[in-house]
Parts: sequence; structure tokens; C-alpha cells
Amino acid sequence: MVYMNPHSTLPTANSSRERILSGVQPTGNLHLGNYLGAIRRWVDMQNDYQCLFMLADLHAITVPQDPAKLRASVRETAAAYIACGIDPAKNIIFPQSAISGHSELAWILSCHTPIGWLNRMTQFKDKAGKDKEKAALGLYSYPVLMAADILLYKTTHVPVGEDQKQHIELARDIAGAFNRNYDCEFFPLPEPVIAAEAARIMSLRDGTKKMSKSDESDYSRINLTDDADTIALKFRKAKSDMVEGMSFAADRPEAANLLSIYAALKGISKEQTLAECGDLNFSAFKALLTEVAVAHLSPITAKMRELLADQAYIDGVLKNGAGQAREIAAQTMAEVKDLVGFLAV
Ligand code: ADP
Ligand code: TRP
Repeated sequence: MVYMNPHSTLPTANSSRERILSGVQPTGNLHLGNYLGAIRRWVDMQNDYQCLFMLADLHAITVPQDPAKLRASVRETAAAYIACGIDPAKNIIFPQSAISGHSELAWILSCHTPIGWLNRMTQFKDKAGKDKEKAALGLYSYPVLMAADILLYKTTHVPVGEDQKQHIELARDIAGAFNRNYDCEFFPLPEPVIAAEAARIMSLRDGTKKMSKSDESDYSRINLTDDADTIALKFRKAKSDMVEGMSFAADRPEAANLLSIYAALKGISKEQTLAECGDLNFSAFKALLTEVAVAHLSPITAKMRELLADQAYIDGVLKNGAGQAREIAAQTMAEVKDLVGFLAV
């Protein structure tokens, strides 16, 4: 049975354009991994889908946050989305916490999620630290909130980096469990969309570790707010090896990572990258990569600065986005509550 709400004025997921939802946690500087692995894909997809891009602030508080910094970071991350090319007139940009349906649906879904499924999530194991008993319950149930984010908008496609794939698969399993339980095809099963060429950008200090906001060394990543000198310095200091020439060989993770960054920034294949750079030594290649990265990132950085100078504009975009998101969410929540058997009083 397909559940249809007879009072609905909005198109259902089946009759509307396919829908995208994605987000980044506003927990500090966005970096090249976030940009190449996620945000740039969103920019490419914004014309073909109805898109919702959130600032995942509910996810951010699964680890301790300073309230003033969190507020600033939500605005900064929204500015980064727009500076990277997300058009606020075409897409819905909003803070996750502004829509109560995320938390509400997360509770309902958590009642349909076996604990065993959560025990398999690798991100919890990485983030919980040595003493798992002290980790917050929210860090453990984080993937259920993420499933709620996705399903609240009946999302069909979720563009993310490779590290989030396991969470999207869980969201599919939870959607299936809900649909089976209520004997309906209410939630579409969301598909992960992962960029083959930049799925996992690695740390500049260790080619076997993911580039991450939470790495204690700022030299491990290129931030979207870094100026040209900082980018040059970080690439100059990036770990290298003594082998002649550049290659994607598995035993040369640092060379492979920098070549992948070059290829992703220029939008060229591995073969083309090797034809252009294979004969260069590490330091000449780093100089070339710096040039390409600065040319690509400096307009983004400049645009971000300009946007951040106008806080009222950013807040206006978020308010408008939240209004649109709230409408879709309210419809889904009314239908979910009806399916579950809650009284609409
Ligand atoms: P971080 O891991 O740095 O805290 P988030 O978890 O907020 O970043 O990730 C936001 C988005 O960026 C997700 O879609 C994630 O998959 C993607 N992403 C994060 N780091 C990388 C990376 N090093 N390479 C590719 N994509 C990444
Ligand atoms: N968990 C994601 C990350 O750390 C952010 C996120 C939260 C997200 N909810 C989402 C991404 C829903 C895609 C869809 O990167």
C-alpha cells in the first residue's frame, strides 16, 4: 500500500523532481576535502534536483561546542556554501536545528532501529575515544538523526564523501524497516552519490589519514579561508617521499593524494594528470599544485569574506530556507504521525 495524504497540497516524492539533501557539520573551517568530496558535487547537481543543504548543527553538538563559536560557524558554513556556488535562490539552505521535525522523526525512527545496526557504525568507534562509556548517547545515535534528516524530506539522493556511505546505507535500512512495519512504501530508499575522483582527500601530513576539520594540525588541511601564502606554505610542508617523478602508486599515498587533489581541482583524469605531472619532482609538482589551488580557491575565499561582512543577508537566506524546509517537513511529519497511530489533536 502506498500511503497518500488526501489533504496534501505538495507533490509527493514520486511526482516531484528527485530530491537531494546533504549537509556539513558547522564545526570550524571547511577544508578542501569537504569542498571536493561534497560541496562541489552539490554545485554540479543543483540544476537537476530539488536540493536542500543544511548546516548540521544538531549533529555538531554530539561533541562539546562553544555556543558563540557554533553560531559563528553556522553563518560561516552557510557563506561557504554560497561562495562555492550554491545558489540560495534555487536551493533550500537552512540550519538543521530550526526544523523540529529532525529531532522528532529521529525519535520515531530510533524506535524502529535495532541497536545491533548502530553497533556496526565505524564513525562512532572512531569518534567516541578510548572510554566509550563516557561518549554522549547522541554521538551513538547520530546515524539515526542523519537518517531522519534524509527521510524527513523523502530524499532520493545524498551526495557525500566516502566516509558517510555507511550512514546512508543505514538510512536505507531504517527506511525499509519503517515501510515494512507499517506495510507501505512511504519513504523512498535514498541513494548515496559519491564522487569517484575525490571521495576521500587525505591529510597533507599523513597520506593514510582522512583530511579532517578535527585534525589537531592545521598543516594537515587546506581551509577554504586560507590565503595564497598559507596554501603555498602548507603544500610546501606537506609530507613527500624521495622517489623520482610523481605517481598514483599505492605505496606512495602522499604523492597519490596530491595528484588526486590536482586532478579534482582541474577536473581531469588520472591519465591526463600523469601526462601533465608524472615527470616532475615533488617540489616542482607542489609549486604547480599551489598555483592551481590558489587560482581555484581565491575567488571562493574572497566571496566568503564579502558574504560574511553582511550578516543580515546570511541570516535572511537561512530564515527563508528554514521556512521552505519547514513546509516539506510538516507534511512528512503529519503523515508519519498518522501512520504510527498518533492522534492529531
Ligand atoms: P569533517 O570530517 O572534516 O569533520 P564532515 O564530517 O562535516 O567533515 O563532512 C562533511 C562532508 O564532507 C561529508 O559529505 C563528508 O563525507 C565530506 N568529507 C569530509 N572529509 C572529506 C575528505 N577528506 N575527503 C572527501 N570528502 C570529505
Ligand atoms: N554526518 C554528516 C557529516 O559528518 C553530516 C550530515 C548530517 C549529513 N546529516 C546529513 C550529510 C544528512 C548528508 C545527509 O559529514
